[in-house]
Amino acid sequence: MSLELKGITVEFGRDDARTTVFDGLGVTFEPGRMTALVGPSGSGKSTLLALAGALLRPTAGQVLLDGEDLAVLSDAQRAKVRRERIGYMFQSGNLLSGLPAVEQLLAAAYISGERPRAHRARAEEALTEMGLGHRLRHRPEQLSGGERQRVALARALFLSPALLLVDEPTAAVDRSQAGDLARLLAERTGRDNCVTVVATHDPAVAEAADRVVDMTELIAAATAGSAG
Ligand SMILES: Nc1ncnc2c1ncn2[C@@H]1O[C@H](COP(=O)(O)OP(=O)(O)O)[C@@H](O)[C@H]1O
Ligand SMILES: [Mg+2]
Repeated sequence: MSLELKGITVEFGRDDARTTVFDGLGVTFEPGRMTALVGPSGSGKSTLLALAGALLRPTAGQVLLDGEDLAVLSDAQRAKVRRERIGYMFQSGNLLSGLPAVEQLLAAAYISGERPRAHRARAEEALTEMGLGHRLRHRPEQLSGGERQRVALARALFLSPALLLVDEPTAAVDRSQAGDLARLLAERTGRDNCVTVVATHDPAVAEAADRVVDMTELIAAATAGSAG
C-alpha cells in the first residue's frame, strides 16, 4: 500500500474569488512510516489530507491509493474507500458526545456494516493497549484532552485502515501528553504498517515522525517543475 499524489492542482472559487492552493504538486508516502506535514497556517496541510482522504476532488491530477486513482471514482466508490481503507483523526478528536469510550469504537464498526457486539472485546482490548483500560466506560466529557485523543486514535485504527490521516492531533493537549501521543502514533504506524500522514505545528510530532515534509518546499518544487 502506498499513497501518491501526482500533478495535483486545487483551486477554490472562481473568477475574481479564485484561490489556487496547489499547482502541479506531487508527493509519495510509504507504508509503515509516519510523515509529519509541516508548514505555516494556510499552506494547504488540511487540503492535502482532504485530497488523500477522498473528501475533496482535485481540480486536476491523481490521488493514487495503491495505484487506484481516488479522483476518478464515483461518490459511492469514494465513500466505500473512506469506510474500508482510511482512518481519520482530527484536532479535537471529534468524539461523539455522551458516548462511552468503548462505544465510540463500536460506532465506527457499526457504520461499516459489521455487527458491533462481535467487536466489543476487541474494542476493549484496543483501548487497553492505548493505556485506557481504566477508562472503557468513560464519556468524552469525563476524559482529559490526551485521553480523548487516544480514544480517537484507537477508533481511527479500529478497522485496520491502510491509510491514517491525522490533522493537528496535539492542538488541545498539554506538552507531555503531546509527546506521548506523537510516539504512540509513530509506534502504531510501524506495527500496523499503515501510511500515516500527520498535519502539525508541533515539534513533538515532527520529532516522533519518520519523515518531515514541508508544505512550503513541496509547493516551491511544484512551481519550479511547472516553470521548467
Ligand atoms: N473550501 C474552501 N474554499 C476556499 N478556500 C479554501 C477552502 N478550504 C481551504 N481554502 C484555502 O486553502 C488554503 C489552504 O488551507 P488549509 O489546507 O486549511 O491550510 P492549513 O491546513 O495548512 O492551515 C488557504 O488559503 C485556505 O483559505
Ligand atoms: Mg489545517
